[in-house]
Amino acid sequence: MERTFAIIKPDAFKAGNAGKILTRIYAEGFKILGLKKLCLSKKEAEGFYAVHRERPFFNDLTNFMSSGPCIVMVLEAEGAIRKWRELMGATNPNDAAQGTLRKEFGTSIDNNATHGSDAPETAAFEIGYFFSGIELLA
Ligand code: CMP
Repeated sequence: MERTFAIIKPDAFKAGNAGKILTRIYAEGFKILGLKKLCLSKKEAEGFYAVHRERPFFNDLTNFMSSGPCIVMVLEAEGAIRKWRELMGATNPNDAAQGTLRKEFGTSIDNNATHGSDAPETAAFEIGYFFSGIELLA
């Protein structure tokens, strides 16, 4: 079984779509090992997205991610990293396939409803950024 890290971003939370997204997560067969609702500080968002520090969208991204409550989760499934990325769809909701979360709930590349790890090493960093081992329950 593989683990991945997921966020329901502030846009989706504020729009009242967290429940629908959680329902899809269960319906697709993921197990939620850990879940927290929290408000990231600007500094916490910058640390989480440090890999994007040099990108032109870094400031807008970290402002947005610290703009309101979000839900952070650890998901488990066979091939969880790829499976969650497929369920989310393309980063830009305009390019995302019908039926994906970003198509349904995202409104722009910045306000794209969800985040997911892109590789095992990223998943390990991102899970560890928010959760300790004893917080993850099978
Ligand atoms: P996420 O999967 O959370 O990872 C980084 C985020 O940066 C991404 O989703 C987008 O919301 C945001 N972003 C803004 N502009 C870009 C871009 N040009 N390329 C990739 N991500 C971008």
